[in-house]
Amino acid sequence: MASYVQHGTVDTLSHCRSVAEVSWWLAHRLHLKVNRTSLLVGALLHDFYLYDWHGAGWRHSYRHAECARRNAAAHFGIDERTQQVIRCHMWPISITHVPRTREAVLVCLSDKYVSLHETLLQRRKQRTVCR
Ligand SMILES: [Fe+2]
Ligand SMILES: [Fe+2]
Repeated sequence: MASYVQHGTVDTLSHCRSVAEVSWWLAHRLHLKVNRTSLLVGALLHDFYLYDWHGAGWRHSYRHAECARRNAAAHFGIDERTQQVIRCHMWPISITHVPRTREAVLVCLSDKYVSLHETLLQRRKQRTVCR
């Protein structure tokens, strides 16, 4: 995961760690009762698809969650609740995979927040270089 770029200069492993940290922080701040293992393992493996998505075409956006879920299940034997976290993290793009647990909702929201932050950070860096 550390070998693949996620957004800008951020690799996939760092992205997943950030999503795990934000998910954990949200659960703590909102005093939500969550399954900690599903939340953290799901967040850490939510983009465990192991390829460079930049050459993967537009279908990547709704297909990679299932690929990551399959890899995570095969490599780590994760339970169904954790698989749901990974499968649903691209909602609403993957429109039929609605997050139905607190862990899945937290990871889905945190992924959007972290992705936006990483993308905006990249744009800011590009603007700084171009001046
Ligand atoms: Fe993703
Ligand atoms: Fe992600």
